[in-house]
Amino acid sequence: MKIIDNLKEMNQEILKHKNKTIGYVPTMGFLHDGHLSLIKESVKENELTILSIYVNPLQFGPNEDYETYPRDAERDKQLAKENGVDIIFMPTNDVMYPKPLTFSLKVTQKTDVLCGKDRPGHFDGVVTVLLKLFNIIQPKTAYFGMKDAQQLAIVYSFVEQFNIPVTIKGLETIREDSGIAKSSRNVYLTEKEKNLAKAIPESLMYGADLIKSKAYNATEVLEKVKKKFLSTENENYEYLELLSFPDLEKITELNSTVIIAMAVKYKKARLIDNLIIDQNGNILTNFN
Ligand code: PAJ
Repeated sequence: MKIIDNLKEMNQEILKHKNKTIGYVPTMGFLHDGHLSLIKESVKENELTILSIYVNPLQFGPNEDYETYPRDAERDKQLAKENGVDIIFMPTNDVMYPKPLTFSLKVTQKTDVLCGKDRPGHFDGVVTVLLKLFNIIQPKTAYFGMKDAQQLAIVYSFVEQFNIPVTIKGLETIREDSGIAKSSRNVYLTEKEKNLAKAIPESLMYGADLIKSKAYNATEVLEKVKKKFLSTENENYEYLELLSFPDLEKITELNSTVIIAMAVKYKKARLIDNLIIDQNGNILTNFN
């Protein structure tokens, strides 16, 4: 496994492997089973798998956790190697942003809901870094988690609208035994918060069951899920929404694929989770 931190070497590697199918997994590191499932799928489907580890400052707001985002490069390298990664691209900020950008990308749809509302500019930062990384790595396929469903939906339309020659695949959310979605930020949860957070997947599953029952409309489902979540010891949620997927538009009828998603802020970690449910009430486990 090669570890590369500069563009010159990366460009040479891409040239060297130009006849191979490249699978690409973009991450911010501190790898967990969610990242590893993306890596495994890429290794299965491609001749070469490239993993990037880069905590992208552009996608963090001024009061967010850029400085304290968990990092452990040595452990990440070990896990990547064990799971069949061929090349890790670990650029520094100087490599990714050698001088201030004089162009800006602005996501103008799908950002007034879910995380977009609470994190202004976040998805602009995500598509900017991904455009650069896609151009550097030139993958055939890039793998994303459905855990970050809004990111997946935005990246999906981004590559479509800008004719970026990469296929986007969305894979199932990997969970802890407790049901909580795996996240690099889970290390910030106290034991008490871990217990409280179980109510997140439980409430979403309850919502999925209600949708499957076909006995309620969208507003009723949402009200019941909110009530259920607030009947636990959790004090509040940042958002709890039921929208169409992948368009992320408000709905009243439940006759298409939908996403039920929520964010909850604990003391040091903000957790997000969702389920994507088709018109028959079945939970989707991949999206592409
Ligand atoms: P990061 O949060 O490190 O996530 C990298 C990828 O892993 C994303 O596609 C995310 O959806 C996926 N992932 C995270 N938790 C998961 C889980 N429990 N199950 C399955 N997949 C999971 O998302 C980012 O980094 C950044 O925004 C990035 C795309 C790298 C751009 O900077």
